Amino acid sequence: ATGGCTATMIDATAGSVRQQVSRLLRESLHVSLQPVAELDPSVVDVEPLVAICNPRFGDYQCNNAMGIWSKIRGKPSSYRNPNSIGQAIVANLPASTLIESATVAGPGFVNLVLSTSYIAQRLDQMLIQGIGSWAPVLPIQRALVDFSSPNIAKEMHVGHLRSTIIGDSLARMLEYCHVEVLRRNHVGDWGTQFGMLIEYLFEEFPNWEEIGEQAIGDLQAFYKAAKQKFDADPAFKEKAQQAVVRLQGGEQRYHVAWESICDISRREFDLVYKRLNVTLEEKGESFYNPYIPAVLEKLSEKGLIEESDGAKVIRIEGVEYPLIVVKRDGGYNYASTDLAACWYRLNVERAEWLVYVTDIGQAQHFDMWFKAVKRAGWLPVNDNDYPKAKHVGFGLVLGADGKRFRTRSSEVVRLIELLDEAKSRSMQGLVERGREGEWTAEELEHAAEALGYGAIKYADLKNNRLTNYIFNFDQMLDVRGNTAVYLLYAHARIRSIIRRSGKNIEELKQIGTITLDHENERQLGLHLVQFAEIVEDALAEFYPNILCEYLYNLSEVFTKFYSNCTVIGSEQETSRLLICEATSTVMRECFKLLGITPLERL
Ligand code: ARG
Repeated sequence: ATGGCTATMIDATAGSVRQQVSRLLRESLHVSLQPVAELDPSVVDVEPLVAICNPRFGDYQCNNAMGIWSKIRGKPSSYRNPNSIGQAIVANLPASTLIESATVAGPGFVNLVLSTSYIAQRLDQMLIQGIGSWAPVLPIQRALVDFSSPNIAKEMHVGHLRSTIIGDSLARMLEYCHVEVLRRNHVGDWGTQFGMLIEYLFEEFPNWEEIGEQAIGDLQAFYKAAKQKFDADPAFKEKAQQAVVRLQGGEQRYHVAWESICDISRREFDLVYKRLNVTLEEKGESFYNPYIPAVLEKLSEKGLIEESDGAKVIRIEGVEYPLIVVKRDGGYNYASTDLAACWYRLNVERAEWLVYVTDIGQAQHFDMWFKAVKRAGWLPVNDNDYPKAKHVGFGLVLGADGKRFRTRSSEVVRLIELLDEAKSRSMQGLVERGREGEWTAEELEHAAEALGYGAIKYADLKNNRLTNYIFNFDQMLDVRGNTAVYLLYAHARIRSIIRRSGKNIEELKQIGTITLDHENERQLGLHLVQFAEIVEDALAEFYPNILCEYLYNLSEVFTKFYSNCTVIGSEQETSRLLICEATSTVMRECFKLLGITPLERL
């Protein structure tokens, strides 16, 4: 797929099954609505409404008839009721190998049954061309996902972990759809805290340049000590405030100290990213600092910026407090940085979709500046048009007590320790299941990481992101229930079926074809070919839990197939092995999009 946005550029077989069904319905609607075009011109370009159907009636349903009827009822037309519109939609469907039958029910619902051989062909084709050939077509080329984004010298907490996990998964889904993704780490590296840290470094370690980073040692402890001094000692506070000015004024010594503090933090963050296998490209707040004056000037020219109490602000309709963009002391803040970053991302990086992944506590911040830049004409007023900006908010991670997740001594949980504990618990589980004797040390290590980190990611992603969830190791590492561990086992079991058959699956892919005669074969086949539209749905409003639910259901549908359809030694062995292969391929892609590493055996 090219990611082009005009219908003529799109190959008729590209995209998800639903996109193809929609294409047929769009054509049919176009013809069906010609006779009533003069009655209400808005019906002519109506977009097909396609939904998954109750399986008793079909595979997909087209729900346009009622809406069209409400526009033309009472006006003279050849349509007597919504049902007659449904009949026309069926009659005008272009001939295609996709659809087996189309029927109208009640007030014009059009129920479509996909052709079983089409489903089978689509599976065959995917096995040869790869699952990338199923990718949905999105109307953009480049997106920017702003995620993780911890603050230098402050702790990276579970909120940042959520942002990292959710943001990475969304980036992976966009990448699957052939969108280029700028994976942006908007680290907080430019706050007033640096004055305090630098001044503390200078005062407590006059020889800091020689002993280097040993002076700082543990950055969190260093931060605490500096903060203590800052709160207790007014003279120090004064100097710390001057230090910010000197740093921002570009004074060499201050800049060097700032760099080395950032480096220490960065190395800590990287340990987390490495374990999670997440890539990010850092452009911290400091990067945008030089752009702020000109960007504010542009907003000023549009008449957005007002003076208020010595500060500069943007008033937002419907919000009591204005958005402050220059503080009373002349300094810039979080909002001014986000405005400059937005300008940069749209005009220099040319991203068409800006996605911000933070906790829901920041919803209003984003809402306010999104409105501001819409007023400035940087983003279109119509939310369906590109470029778009979207805040992807998420809830809290809670401890067993239902309160914010903390350690027993009510400290912030160190992410590295959390991840390491997940891994060591998984390792223990593997040892208990006797894998130590069977596998090499590297294999064990690899599996323990896949299980442990996968469990943490899946436990997060399977929830609707807006809700809070309780962090519970026992639950997320359970081999039963809706967990990554269960799903990784389910996948490994399918791999072992294929291995046990003794057949060369690569060869079968070339010579064999899939047939879906048994009811459970067809059900599984249908579920598999719907993978691409699930990715579309998950991306529509950025809910990774939609993909998790799909994956979990897939394992259930597979189980049903496997208990009712003999694979090895059956007459349909080749086809059924290919169905197993297709299932494991789709499962693997789900894992990949969730950032989880699948295992061949467990
Ligand atoms: N550093 C911020 C925090 O820890 C998150 C930044 C999110 N990105 C943005 N462009 N504002 O809360």
